[in-house]
Amino acid sequence: MLMRAMCDTPLYRRSRKLNGERGAALLAKMRTGSQTLSDLEDEHALWGYVNAVGSKRAFNVCEAFQAASQVPTIGAALRPERGHLLRVASLGGGPACCLLGWAAFERLSRGGDEACGGDGDGGEPSEGLAEAASTAALATSPPRLHVFDYAPGWASLVQRAADALAEPIGFAGCELTQALSHPANAALRAASAAGLDLVLLVYALHEADHDRPAIDASGRPPRWAALLLELWDAAAPATLFLVKDQAWVEQLAKALLESERPGTSESWVVPRAAGTRSAAHDSDGLFLLRT
Ligand SMILES: C[S@@+](CC[C@H](N)C(=O)[O-])C[C@H]1O[C@@H](n2cnc3c(N)ncnc32)[C@H](O)[C@@H]1O
Repeated sequence: MLMRAMCDTPLYRRSRKLNGERGAALLAKMRTGSQTLSDLEDEHALWGYVNAVGSKRAFNVCEAFQAASQVPTIGAALRPERGHLLRVASLGGGPACCLLGWAAFERLSRGGDEACGGDGDGGEPSEGLAEAASTAALATSPPRLHVFDYAPGWASLVQRAADALAEPIGFAGCELTQALSHPANAALRAASAAGLDLVLLVYALHEADHDRPAIDASGRPPRWAALLLELWDAAAPATLFLVKDQAWVEQLAKALLESERPGTSESWVVPRAAGTRSAAHDSDGLFLLRT
């Protein structure tokens, strides 16, 4: 329903066939990593792409969180006791499909909280969450949801996602191949300094090395290594990262943190229901907790 609300615009209704064709062409380029920034300026292609893959992406992310939340440590990280809703950033977040998947999970679990009469800690956290979620609070506070991406063309779809959620989403540039200190990552640096509870890296990191899939044999680090390490250094304990990507990306991310920042992470791959995964040809995702 969220995805339908996101895609259902005059542009989409008027040009369904064209959007579908251009979206399929963009998807084909993405599969071989041959897309360029100018491909991400064609609004028809972006809409068609989201209509084709957005629901599945959001569903898979929602499912991954649902499964992972059964792990007590992850479940605790997803239920802040401080009475605020999680502050979430999606990097290479494009049209915000993965963010919508997270938001669906969050809303479902919040509904569960309310149905169960709180989380058993005396009711206070639930009251705090309900208050933080109130429309008035959302309208006046800075966004707690962020999408960072190098392609400005996603802006209108991110706004549609915000409208569907009835909650603001900050949208700003970022460059996965540059360090956090680089000017291109100024907005991300500011959000990270203000505090993030959850960082989503969903099918974005592999694009930074699209010309050397699975990384060549040179042993050079992936191009996103500096950014991940600096974000990790800036993250407070109990910050959760989800790297959901091609298998080699997830393996490299885990190995990088273990070798460069030993003793600072716990990690999990939490299998989802077998049918879900094989039907979707999708990774379960690597959950990394900053300890
Ligand atoms: C396959 S899409 C995934 C989008 C989003 N994470 C999701 O799941 O809905 C990959 C995204 O990475 C972005 N991207 C690719 N290379 C990037 C780079 N070097 N820096 C920042 N963003 C990048 C693209 O613009 C695109 O939005």
